Amino acid sequence: MRGRFISIEGPDGGGKSTQAKRLVRALTDSGKQVLYTREPGGTPTGDLIRGILQHDTSGEAIHPETELLLFAASRAQLVQCVIKPALARGEWVICDRFIDSTTAYQGYGRGFPVDVVKSINEFATQALLPDLTLLLNVDVSLGAQRTHRRNADIGQVEDRFEREDDAYLTRVRDGYLALAEASPERFRLIDASRDEDSVFETVWALISELERSVA
Ligand code: TYD
Repeated sequence: MRGRFISIEGPDGGGKSTQAKRLVRALTDSGKQVLYTREPGGTPTGDLIRGILQHDTSGEAIHPETELLLFAASRAQLVQCVIKPALARGEWVICDRFIDSTTAYQGYGRGFPVDVVKSINEFATQALLPDLTLLLNVDVSLGAQRTHRRNADIGQVEDRFEREDDAYLTRVRDGYLALAEASPERFRLIDASRDEDSVFETVWALISELERSVA
């Protein structure tokens, strides 16, 4: 049987990576084979692309069109080499960001037509969609506050994305909400302004509901 495919999405500072890791642990503890991956990255090629996107390693400014296609290229490699094979083996796949990040950040955020972004996503993924998308929703100001605190705690410099202004991040956040509203069968909206344990309780309840619905 094909495994389940869960993507975790949302604006920066919503605690996606923390929740994704907790989810992987909980599913593994319940006896499932689970694969965790993230975007951009998740393959050697994708990790090289991640470096270009995050830190301008090429030394030149990246055009928005190039940026969009680099995200799509990283995703195509991840789908072909990692996600599809894992699903075919019957594993659960937890993906930290997927297609909706590109629609939210490059479509709504940068202003590319959303239908164009969606067709590029569809081409890159061969139309593979997550069974469930958990949208960790957080206000732009709280998200930025958490991101700055985390960077300070681990002594990390801001990357290219974390230097974006509030207007851009607000478009991204509103874009996510529009996507969730348009596909309620796939999206679950989670209030991520709460503490880590409360958010995880909701995450786990939604996953249990998914399991029951496919059992
Ligand atoms: P992320 O891995 O969430 O950052 P962090 O290093 O904080 O864990 O994502 C890196 C940035 O890339 C994030 O600001 C969102 C952005 N992004 C896009 O703009 N488009 C995309 O398609 C994806 C996958 C990410």
